[in-house]
Amino acid sequence: MWSSNAIVLAPLLIGRVLGQSCPGYSSYSQVRNPPLSTGAYKLAYQRPAPECRTFNSSLVEDAIAQVKEDIYDVDLSRLFENTFPNTLDTAIKWRGVAANNTEEELAFVITGDINAMWIRDSANQIAPYKAVLKNQTSELASLFRGVINLQARYLILSPYCNAFQPPPESGMPPEQNGGVYAVTPAYDHNVVFTCNFELDDFGGFLQLSHDYYAATGDAGFFGRFQWAAAVQSVLAATEAMRQPTYGPDGRWLRPAYTFQSQTMSASGTLANNGVGMPVNYTGMARSPFRPSDDSALFDFSVPANMMLSRYLDSTAAIADQLPNAPEGLAAQMRDVAAEIREGIAEWGVVEAPDGRRVFAYEVDGFGGRNLMDDANIPSLLSAPFLGYLDKNDTVYQNTREFILGRSNPWWCEGPYINAVGSPHVRPGAAWPMSAIMRAMTSDDDMEIITAVKEVLRSTDGYGLIHESVNSFDTSDWTRQWFTWANGLFGQMIMDLADRKPHLLKESFQPFFIEKD
Ligand SMILES: *[C@@H]1O[C@H](CO)[C@@H](O)[C@H](O)[C@H]1NC(C)=O
Ligand SMILES: *[C@@H]1O[C@H](CO)[C@@H](O)[C@H](O)[C@H]1NC(C)=O
Ligand SMILES: *[C@@H]1O[C@H](CO)[C@@H](O)[C@H](O)[C@H]1NC(C)=O
Ligand SMILES: *[C@@H]1O[C@H](CO)[C@@H](O)[C@H](O)[C@H]1NC(C)=O
Ligand SMILES: *[C@@H]1O[C@H](CO)[C@@H](O)[C@H](O)[C@H]1NC(C)=O
Repeated sequence: MWSSNAIVLAPLLIGRVLGQSCPGYSSYSQVRNPPLSTGAYKLAYQRPAPECRTFNSSLVEDAIAQVKEDIYDVDLSRLFENTFPNTLDTAIKWRGVAANNTEEELAFVITGDINAMWIRDSANQIAPYKAVLKNQTSELASLFRGVINLQARYLILSPYCNAFQPPPESGMPPEQNGGVYAVTPAYDHNVVFTCNFELDDFGGFLQLSHDYYAATGDAGFFGRFQWAAAVQSVLAATEAMRQPTYGPDGRWLRPAYTFQSQTMSASGTLANNGVGMPVNYTGMARSPFRPSDDSALFDFSVPANMMLSRYLDSTAAIADQLPNAPEGLAAQMRDVAAEIREGIAEWGVVEAPDGRRVFAYEVDGFGGRNLMDDANIPSLLSAPFLGYLDKNDTVYQNTREFILGRSNPWWCEGPYINAVGSPHVRPGAAWPMSAIMRAMTSDDDMEIITAVKEVLRSTDGYGLIHESVNSFDTSDWTRQWFTWANGLFGQMIMDLADRKPHLLKESFQPFFIEKD
């Protein structure tokens, strides 16, 4: 995600890298390119010409060809073929090796319309391709390693920051960021693009590490470069962000991270002159910013802590196998994971107005709680997708009912799409990402079909997943190039092909022809 405030949008210079005849995807994706699909939705073909794609993978092309054969609906098929490869097609801005080690692969993945690499987005952008990653020999495997290595470098240099500049090895100049910020710890503008501390960045790094390891079994890779040092950096920052606002004697403790920005938006800076709202000790770690890049109401994000706990625990299995792992690293990862899990159980589960026990979105450890969900992942809706709990967990099922209805202040309902939105845009703007997540966390065929239909009818003919869509007017949407959401749609189809192949044989056409 990116903050719309305080950022100067610069047109991407993809053409410089790929040859002058290639249009930048910012403009390419604003045109409904032919040929249109032949269903009611007449979806554009939005893949760039082969010579303009930023990465080629025969594994991904084979999967597209195969899954397209399994999809009956021509519009659904088009949306899949546009979206699944979108990160590879458009966002792999540079690949190379580290200046001081030619064995250390690096990959710089942009979030879409800004020439910077977000830790969270890049992890989620690459994640869908784990479905076709069989071993460590492919170029695709090299891409995973390149992203993990570059994320590790960033997390060692500035663990409190969320978006980063191109590595010096790329020869690309740092992107200008027009924002005015006062942040501690201080950071280097040649390395960092924005410094919103978002706990799910740690979750994203560990999730991608887990994905690569689970798909390839290549534990050796993690011992060769900076991975263990990055995990240590993550653990140290996590520890600092678990500290309460007041010490045992009541004295105020200055937090490790503070952030103030000159902004028009209340969610673009932190309260109390940048230190945020007081918190009590819970075992969870603070996330002053959300996965939307908006500031939190209460700092203990339950979904971000779920994600961190789950992936600290599962990547401890990698640390177990490192020949030169720092003393006690794996044990520390498991301990922190368990303490966070206990903190969520004790502080993150609260009583909803109807008396049922649900997960709060955010808490402060004093009894303050925020009952809502935001579409950005990690969300409460995504808890089983994160692997934190089982779909049929009772508290999760209660929470799901709460989230997917009018009790959630960010539920956006309407004739075209019914999904969770985000304060990042506005009330009434449903996020297709949340309808995708609804399908991925459901076993109910009708619920899945309904959610997929809503996403399919929400693209305004562009055949790409938008950030948000007015639930009463699909021509009113935000963000034309959002590779994370595109990839997630592809991931959902790959998941359905595996888990519910009969659903891909359904028609997703409307009963009547909707407005043009
Ligand atoms: C991808 O393949 C096309 C040919 O199909 C080629 O023109 C293009 O340069 C390749 N892209 C990359 C990044 O290698
Ligand atoms: C390369 O540089 C990094 C960061 O300064 C350092 O940690 C690493 O050990 C170096 N690698 C080699 C092979 O010198
Ligand atoms: C790795 O996967 C590729 C593509 O699936 C396959 O062609 C190759 O034989 C595999 N290599 C090994 C060592 O298993
Ligand atoms: C603050 O946290 C401590 C330790 O977890 C707990 O004993 C105490 O009751 C909490 N304070 C409030 C006001 O909830
Ligand atoms: C959830 O449902 C599955 C299958 O329906 C079952 O195997 C599993 O034990 C259930 N888990 C819980 C926590 O109830």
